[in-house]
Parts: sequence; C-alpha cells; structure tokens
Amino acid sequence: MSTTLAIIKPDAVSAGKAGKIFAHLEDNGFRVRALRMLRFSREQAGEFYAVHRERPFYGELVEFMTSGPVIPMVLEADDAVSKLREAIGATDPAEAADGTIRKLYAESIGRNAIHASDSDENAAREIGFFFSEAERVALGR
Ligand code: RTP
Ligand code: MG
Repeated sequence: MSTTLAIIKPDAVSAGKAGKIFAHLEDNGFRVRALRMLRFSREQAGEFYAVHRERPFYGELVEFMTSGPVIPMVLEADDAVSKLREAIGATDPAEAADGTIRKLYAESIGRNAIHASDSDENAAREIGFFFSEAERVALGR
C-alpha cells in the first residue's frame, strides 16, 4: 500500500459535488487516511503550486484555488499515485476518459474539480504540506 494526496477543488466543493467525488474514490478502492476542509491563503496556494510559477496560467490557478474552500485528503491504495491519476483523468475534462472524475465533474481545464499528486516524491511533499504524521489515521484491515 502507498499513499497520495487529493484535493477536491473550489469548483467541485461549491457545486456540491464533494460527496459524489468522495464516494467515487471509495468505490474505486481508495481508503481515506486523513481529511480536512480549509480555504487556501494566497501565500499557501502560491507555495503549493510553486512548480508552476513561470507558467502563463499560474495567476489564474492561484486565484481559483483561493476562491473558496478545498478538501485535501490522504488516500491509500496499491500504487496510489498512478491509480489516482488514472481515476481523475486528463487535466482538460474535454480530453478525460469516460468515467473519470474530471470527465464527470470538471467544468474546464482551469476549473477541473480535483488535484492529484504526480509522483511518490511530490505525494510525500504535498501530504506534509497539509497533514502531520499524527493526523494520518492507521487503517485496520
Ligand atoms: P493537478 O496538479 O491540479 O492535479 O493538475 P494536473 O497535474 O492534471 O495539471 P498540471 O499541469 O499540474 O496543472 C495544474 C493545474 O493548473 C491548472 N491549469 N490551467 N488554463 C490552463 O491552460 C491550465 N493548465 C493547467 C489546472 O487547474 C491544473 O489542474
Ligand atoms: Mg499537477
């Protein structure tokens, strides 16, 4: 088992899709090890997406991610990082495969419902951004 970080983004939270996304993740074999709801400050959003600082969409991305509450969560599964990337689908919902979270719930490439870590290294960094070790619940099986 490994872990990754997902964030239900402000568009999906404000549209009332968080519960459906949560159910989709559980139905697809992910188990939740930590969860919270918060609103990013501009500083936090800027730091979280610092890798995109030079990209043309960076300002828009920070603006969007601070526009309302988000729900970060630690998800556990076999091969969690690649399994979650597969479950969320392509960045642009118009290109996302049928049945993926972005195909089902995203509005556009910018407002695309959910974030997922893209490597084990980034998953560790991103989990640490939101959650301490003590906040990660051990799952009895
Ligand atoms: P994420 O990091 O949120 O899971 O998304 P991703 O890996 O699929 O895409 P990435 O390239 O890391 O981009 C991060 C987020 O920036 C916004 N974006 N907007 N307007 C645009 O062309 C554009 N491109 C990217 C999206 O919200 C994307 O998820
Ligand atoms: Mg990314």
